[in-house]
Amino acid sequence: MLEVYEINTKEEFEAALPVMIDAYTKPFNTLYETIKGPSDDEFVTRFWHWHTADPGSQWIGVRKKDGDKATVGVAEWVLHESNPFEQGNPLPPVDWWSDVYTQNVTEQVVSTFFGGRPKVMSRPHVLLNICCVAPDARRQGAGRLLMNWGRSLADQKGLETFIEATIDGVRLYESTGFTQVEPIILDAKLPEKFKGEDDKKAWLEARHRVLPRPFPVMLMWRPKGADWKEGDEFHFLESG
Ligand SMILES: CC(C)(COP(=O)(O)OP(=O)(O)OC[C@H]1O[C@@H](n2cnc3c(N)ncnc32)[C@H](O)[C@@H]1OP(=O)(O)O)[C@@H](O)C(=O)NCCC(=O)NCCS
Repeated sequence: MLEVYEINTKEEFEAALPVMIDAYTKPFNTLYETIKGPSDDEFVTRFWHWHTADPGSQWIGVRKKDGDKATVGVAEWVLHESNPFEQGNPLPPVDWWSDVYTQNVTEQVVSTFFGGRPKVMSRPHVLLNICCVAPDARRQGAGRLLMNWGRSLADQKGLETFIEATIDGVRLYESTGFTQVEPIILDAKLPEKFKGEDDKKAWLEARHRVLPRPFPVMLMWRPKGADWKEGDEFHFLESG
């Protein structure tokens, strides 16, 4: 048996980190790999800072109800009761890599991923930022519990919901009321400044490590107040 709990302290967040690392490296996930960076400690501090700076952010976990009460899944839901891009969309400075090559690849991923949000999300909404379940706990309902928490929030607030889903998440999200909108491809191109022989070699190595191939993400959407079902009218653009 599993239960959802709210993660309210940095210590609780840190305790759930091994689940996130396990889940997002099986299978390999470029978005996680680039944004996490090389240091677990720095990652926890930065992510907890981003969370506390955003009053709409809520981390939740799923744990076993009995025995060791081990956490098996983690999610971050973000509530935006007004347009979050009213004052623009400043992207986070990518300062968590010590080498300029991985930093550059990450900047390109961040720019495509976060930079594209205002085009579709400049209205009140709920956003699923993170959702993952440990590999050995999958297909036992933990993901659905993480989803139900956010669906209840969206329905209670009367808001539509967005997800930028990795391929692995699409079936879970479709089974919890979301429909596919459009793909977003995360990729990085060799910049002019790294065209010299040594720089180019180092940049290509960095890209191979964190972005071995273009990484597809699917923008998904759930309408206000109800699950989307096959055959429903697709009123994505008009509903804001
Ligand atoms: C996506 C993920 C969170 C799903 O978690 P989960 O705990 O296995 O999901 P659930 O057991 O609650 O699944 C609920 C339903 O979703 C669908 N579903 C989930 N995973 C599926 C899969 N791999 N294939 C097909 N359907 C799937 C099924 O309809 C399932 O119901 P069923 O098991 O009764 O058929 C998990 O696979 C994961 O962490 N993947 C790696 C990280 C990731 O990519 N996360 C998404 C980021 S956007």
